[in-house]
Amino acid sequence: MTTPALPPIPADRLPALLRAMPKAELHMHIEGSLEPELIFALAQRNGVALPYASVEELRRAYAFTNLQSFLDIYYAGASVLLKEQDFHDMAWAYLERAAADNVVHTEMFFDPQTHTARGVAMQTVIDGLHRACVDAKAKLGVSAALILCFLRHLSEEEAFATLEQALPFRDKIVGIGLDSSEVGHPPEKFARVFARCRELGFHLVAHAGEEGPPAYVWSALDVLKVERVDHGVQSTKDPALMKRLAQDRIPLTVCPLSNLKLCVFPDLARHNLGQLLDAGLVATVNSDDPAYFGGYMNENFVQTFAATGLTAQHAWQLAANSFEGSFVDAQTKAGWMARLNESFAQFGKA
Ligand code: HPA
Ligand code: ZN
Repeated sequence: MTTPALPPIPADRLPALLRAMPKAELHMHIEGSLEPELIFALAQRNGVALPYASVEELRRAYAFTNLQSFLDIYYAGASVLLKEQDFHDMAWAYLERAAADNVVHTEMFFDPQTHTARGVAMQTVIDGLHRACVDAKAKLGVSAALILCFLRHLSEEEAFATLEQALPFRDKIVGIGLDSSEVGHPPEKFARVFARCRELGFHLVAHAGEEGPPAYVWSALDVLKVERVDHGVQSTKDPALMKRLAQDRIPLTVCPLSNLKLCVFPDLARHNLGQLLDAGLVATVNSDDPAYFGGYMNENFVQTFAATGLTAQHAWQLAANSFEGSFVDAQTKAGWMARLNESFAQFGKA
C-alpha cells in the first residue's frame, strides 16, 4: 500500500491518534485475554479450585522471566473454562475491549488442545467462541475470526487428531497457527500436518522468532509455508531473512508488551519495531495475551511509541499493515484504508 501524503500531526496529539485510528489485531490468544477477575468468577461458577487465594495473589504471580514461565500460568488459568457459555463470555469480554480500542477486525487464536485434554468437547470451545464473533459483528461492528493453534510442545500426531476433531466446524475457522514453547520445537516438527491444512484451504500462520532463532522463521516460511509470522522479532539478526520478509511482504505480528514482559527485550526503548518498519517489513502491533502482559491494543501502541519515538507516519504504516495482513477480501481492506485515511485527516485539521 503506497503511503499517502499525511497531514502534519502535532506530537502531543499522537497518543490520541494512536487510540482513535482504526486497526486490526492479528495476534491475540483468546485464553490470554482472561482477566484474573474473570478467572475467579468462572472458577466459582464451575466449582473449579484455583491454587491462588485471591485475584491479587493471582495477579502478583504475573512476573515472568521467559515464555515458559508465562505458559505455565496461562494454561493453569484456562482450566476454569468448561462450558460453551464460558468460552463465549471470555471472547465477548475481549471483543468489547477491542471495540473500545477502535479495533475494527480481529483474528483470534485459540488453543483447543488445552481444553480437549481436560475433557471439554471441541464443539463446546468453537461454538462458544464463534457465538461471540457473531455477536461482535452485530452489536459492536467488529469483525472477528478464529485461528486454531496447535500446541508445539505436543506431537504432530496429536495435532492431526485435533485437526480431525475440528473439521466438522471448519466453516468457523479461518486459519491454522502454531504456538506454545518455541525453542526445541522447530516448525519442521509440524511439516505434514501443515501441508494437510494447506490442502484443506486454511490460511496458515506460525509463531517463530519470538525466542527461537531466525532459522525457525526460515522454516516457518519454507517448510510450513505460512502467510504470516507471529512475532518474528529475532529476524533482525539475519539480513538475508529481512530481505526475504520485505520482498515477499510477509506480515510480522509483533507484540511489544509481550516481548517486554517475557524479557525478549530488556526495555521497550530497545524494541526493534522501528527497525522492522524502516526496513520495509509489513510489521504490525498486537497484544498477544493482554490480560497477562499489561495492556490491550492501544496500550501496546501508546507505550511503544512513547518509549521508541516512532512517528505518525509509523502509526499510519502499522494500521495499514494490519489491514494488508488480515485474511479478508480486498474490498473490505480498501474500506478500512479509507477509514484510516479519514482518521488521519481529522487529526491533521484540529
Ligand atoms: N508465544 C507462544 N505461545 C503462546 C504465546 C506466545 O507469546 N501466548 C500464548 N501462547
Ligand atoms: Zn502469541
